Amino acid sequence: MDKVVVVEDVVKVYTIGDMGVTALRGVSLEVFKGELAIVMGPSGSGKTTLLNLIAGLDKPSSGSIYVFGHDLTRLGETELNNLRLHRIGVVFQFLNLISRLTARENIELPMMVAGKSSEYIRNRVEELASKLGIEDKLDKMVEDLSGGEQQRVAIAAALANDPELVLADEPTAELDSENIKKVLSLFKELTEAGKTVIINTHDPRVAREGDRVFLLEDGVLQGIYRPRELTSEVESSKTISEYISKRLEELREERERLIEEFRKGGIGPEEFIKRYNRIKTLEEVFRDEFRVRG
Ligand SMILES: Nc1ncnc2c1ncn2[C@@H]1O[C@H](COP(=O)(O)OP(=O)(O)OP(=O)(O)O)[C@@H](O)[C@H]1O
Ligand SMILES: [Mg+2]
Repeated sequence: MDKVVVVEDVVKVYTIGDMGVTALRGVSLEVFKGELAIVMGPSGSGKTTLLNLIAGLDKPSSGSIYVFGHDLTRLGETELNNLRLHRIGVVFQFLNLISRLTARENIELPMMVAGKSSEYIRNRVEELASKLGIEDKLDKMVEDLSGGEQQRVAIAAALANDPELVLADEPTAELDSENIKKVLSLFKELTEAGKTVIINTHDPRVAREGDRVFLLEDGVLQGIYRPRELTSEVESSKTISEYISKRLEELREERERLIEEFRKGGIGPEEFIKRYNRIKTLEEVFRDEFRVRG
């Protein structure tokens, strides 16, 4: 099978002043053409770091990363930019949209840079917007859109140039179940057409749809499992249960902090309810997952 991404013994150390933070401690993995790969793991486990390295946005401290057979550490800035413009679509965790442009303009921008025709651009915007349910938001300024709408605009912009590899960092964190389904079916459509998708997520509803799940913990790949077959390549059922328990613990702490913040007047009631419900939903899905895998 074609290997689209090969990560070989990658170590990433961030240096701040004279302090070093090791975000990845020797990670190796491969992602094949047409795969929907999921990266899961507690907060701070290295998911974003890994995705940024695969996107060529940052360099590993040691080890190698190959994408479409290119050794990324050997490519220059121009070649990397070209790769990201034409062949890799990135959805960032902290959406990198231009807030003073409309949703439509944000989606058009990568296609304009790639020199696509105005007819192509118009059709592509309509197509993506309808699949993501943002047709009636296109002419709004990004800053006037909700978090979930912005998230879908960012996904549309990442997919605009029809990339062969999509890297999405928590692309559904702001979405409700209905929109999570839309995004997942769009990603599945891509993999069925032979594209490759890697998603970082905390959400088991997303993980369940993957072909394989890579479980990161503290910068180490702890296991790989196939969620739809309930089998694992590495002895990992214990690790998965441990991860779920840890995540449930994190969510409980997050909920406590949120309540505290609300009581101190740090956030308004609407924001409080929204965030509270999101945490509760996640807790429910994780409990479900725990029952299945237990
Ligand atoms: N630019 C940076 N400079 C210094 N340390 C960093 C930087 N980016 C990440 N780190 C550290 O590296 C570790 C891994 O971070 P990373 O963002 O990859 O985690 P994550 O799994 O994506 O977490 P989350 O689920 O919260 O998004 C953390 O300890 C983090 O504090
Ligand atoms: Mg992250």
